[in-house]
Amino acid sequence: MLTIHMTIKNALTKYSKLLKENNTPSPNLDAEVILFYVLKKPKEYLYTYPEKNLTTKQLNDLTTLIKRRTKGEPVAYLTNHKEFFGLDFYVDERVLIPRPETEELVEEVIKVVSNKGSVISNQSLTICDIGTGSGCIAIALAKNLPNIKLIATDISKDALTVAKKNARQLKVYDRIKFLHGNLLEPIKNMKLDIIVANLPYLTKQEALKHEPNLALVASNKGLSLYNELFHQIKKYKFPNAVVIIEFAPHQRIGLSKYIKRLYPQGEINIKKDLAKRYRILKITL
Ligand SMILES: C[S@@+](CC[C@H](N)C(=O)[O-])C[C@H]1O[C@@H](n2cnc3c(N)ncnc32)[C@H](O)[C@@H]1O
Repeated sequence: MLTIHMTIKNALTKYSKLLKENNTPSPNLDAEVILFYVLKKPKEYLYTYPEKNLTTKQLNDLTTLIKRRTKGEPVAYLTNHKEFFGLDFYVDERVLIPRPETEELVEEVIKVVSNKGSVISNQSLTICDIGTGSGCIAIALAKNLPNIKLIATDISKDALTVAKKNARQLKVYDRIKFLHGNLLEPIKNMKLDIIVANLPYLTKQEALKHEPNLALVASNKGLSLYNELFHQIKKYKFPNAVVIIEFAPHQRIGLSKYIKRLYPQGEINIKKDLAKRYRILKITL
């Protein structure tokens, strides 16, 4: 049998070039991340031992993953890792890959909780994360707010399986109650202080090929799920709760109008993300 030898350095050069030829947006970084994932070593290893040969298995694994990357599969699905809020999350095709913008949503919730002048200032607050996906929001909150009670819901049982796996790995499983169902339906009789959500808000045309449609797409210009969420909030009544959601910049006016109609007295606050695009809406009911 013919054995092919390839050093780390040559593999990096060869596969960065291949990714570049296939128009992958960050070919060098992607080749690096995939390679150190295959080697099960930290990134520095690649540059400390550039002349080390890959084993046949490593080379096979590498070529398989690079091939998948050339077809557009996100690196996070290939390596099953994504960092969010300084924590390492397991991800696969069952969940949306956590986005950096969503870290700002988490920061906003932490701000509301720690704001002494806020309408909610006692210690035993309950926060619900609707459409938890990988669990990234609820878990980041559990890690950063030790006295808070947390509930996380999702309509996808597959997503809940991933979220629970992450909660176990990150050692907050006993802090979060995971519930299956449509938006607030599984928790309609509970008292909630903060409702946080990053629900699907893209149109079918905007959706990305490799991530689950259930995690991305909503009808009515991407607004149907937020409209339904606020409708449920009104119906199930959560007096004085604060609702904090992430949305697409172009939805700002439509979303605000809809919420204003349901809550004419509610104080709506809209924030931009780090890229200076309208992204986060907060309302005190
Ligand atoms: C945009 S993803 C966000 C996931 C995660 N919260 C994050 O920020 O990365 C939206 C999530 O909402 C869930 N979802 C979609 N429709 C839902 C519904 N009607 N009720 C509850 N969850 C829903 C999807 O399964 C998906 O996990």
